[in-house]
Amino acid sequence: MKCNGLLLLILCAIRSSAADVDDPTLVTLPEGQIRGQALRSPNDNVYYAFQEVPYAAPPVGALRFQAPVALAKWEGILNTTKNEKICYQGGDVYIPIPELNPTEDCLYLNVYTPLKPGQTSQTPLPVLIWIHGGGFETGTGAIQIFKPGFVIDHDIVVVTINYRVVALGFLTTEDGVIPGNLGLKDQHFAFQWVKNNIHLFGGDPEKITISGESAGGASVGLQLVSQRNKGLFRGAILQSGTSVAQWAHQNYARFYAFELARSLDPSFTSDNSTELLELLQSFPASNINNNTVTAAVGKESALLGSLIWLPVIEEASLDGALITGLFHEDIRTGNINQVPIIIGFNSEEALLFLNSDPSDVEVRAKYFDSDLSNLIRNQFNMTKEKQTDSWH
Ligand SMILES: *[C@@H]1O[C@H](CO)[C@@H](O)[C@H](O)[C@H]1NC(C)=O
Ligand SMILES: *[C@@H]1O[C@H](CO)[C@@H](O)[C@H](O)[C@H]1NC(C)=O
Ligand SMILES: *[C@@H]1O[C@H](CO)[C@@H](O)[C@H](O)[C@H]1NC(C)=O
Ligand SMILES: *[C@@H]1O[C@H](CO)[C@@H](O)[C@H](O)[C@H]1NC(C)=O
Repeated sequence: MKCNGLLLLILCAIRSSAADVDDPTLVTLPEGQIRGQALRSPNDNVYYAFQEVPYAAPPVGALRFQAPVALAKWEGILNTTKNEKICYQGGDVYIPIPELNPTEDCLYLNVYTPLKPGQTSQTPLPVLIWIHGGGFETGTGAIQIFKPGFVIDHDIVVVTINYRVVALGFLTTEDGVIPGNLGLKDQHFAFQWVKNNIHLFGGDPEKITISGESAGGASVGLQLVSQRNKGLFRGAILQSGTSVAQWAHQNYARFYAFELARSLDPSFTSDNSTELLELLQSFPASNINNNTVTAAVGKESALLGSLIWLPVIEEASLDGALITGLFHEDIRTGNINQVPIIIGFNSEEALLFLNSDPSDVEVRAKYFDSDLSNLIRNQFNMTKEKQTDSWH
């Protein structure tokens, strides 16, 4: 149905935010219509896939290095039948995948449902949100990597998401000019999208579980402690990562933000956050992404400095702060989103890293083996004795 003209406007208003009963591949979101497609699971069950659905305004131009904001409405039907856009990737572990193009305009999610969208007589299904890993510097929710079929066969609605990574997702001035944890704020924004819209796909907004692996598991852990997520999910699954992981936090974020600016423009000597933001918004995103800032001596806060762009603890007074204060104290006292959680890892799974430079692996192994307290972040405020107590 075309939404032109005054009379139709009224009709369209009545029909807005609904799925089309006659066509399970057409869904009407508050911002506009999307058309997905029917696919088949490994057990040959039909499910409906809606790929690359925008969940926030493209974080480009003046929105680069800012928290995600609501999307504008669109006209016509948006084709949501392929994954192409992924966030700019970093690090040396990124393996390009044909058809996937790293880009700044990357805030998209995928919805897969075994139910026919629009059939209101069906009992809504539980929902699983998947947050990819990749050290906060690589990864995507695209179907080329995460296929939903096996979960679909258990009658679960699956949502996979992209979120900003590397500098574009985690660089911060720590004073609110470039807010911290932008990639985590993208995730939180996607949770809200799911809460508001998943009923249109046969999902139950009261039965949402968030899940993730590695940096995705750490993300789930961080979202668990954030008070801003209250009511957005009722369960959490953390695989191979938690909020207190040594590698999931940057202690020197402001320093590295200015390091990046100085490497882009050696004449930049300011320590003014607004001037930094202006400079960083004036470069093409690819330049920002290709620029490698390496750990400075004495400021190697994560995995011996191999990771730079990471979550931070934000000042609670800052606008939109997501992860605040000494949140490990909140975990200790139980002042977190108290939902059932599943948490675990696989034996020997770090063998993955033996692929990397062996001398590097040895350096890291020795770093932790020689002093187990290196596994514990310094801002936990633990005495040296306490840090190693539980190992004896
Ligand atoms: C949407 O996708 C279908 C099927 O791939 C194609 O026929 C159609 O031209 C596409 N529409 C637009 C506007 O790209
Ligand atoms: C930072 O720079 C901006 C723009 O040049 C200026 O308006 C502002 O006063 C400066 N702030 C500080 C704290 O110097
Ligand atoms: C940045 O890296 C990408 C991928 O390796 C490459 O295609 C692009 O040309 C690079 N851009 C710049 C400005 O170096
Ligand atoms: C951290 O430890 C110092 C020294 O024991 C103490 O003065 C301070 O209050 C502690 N901070 C927190 C937040 O517990």
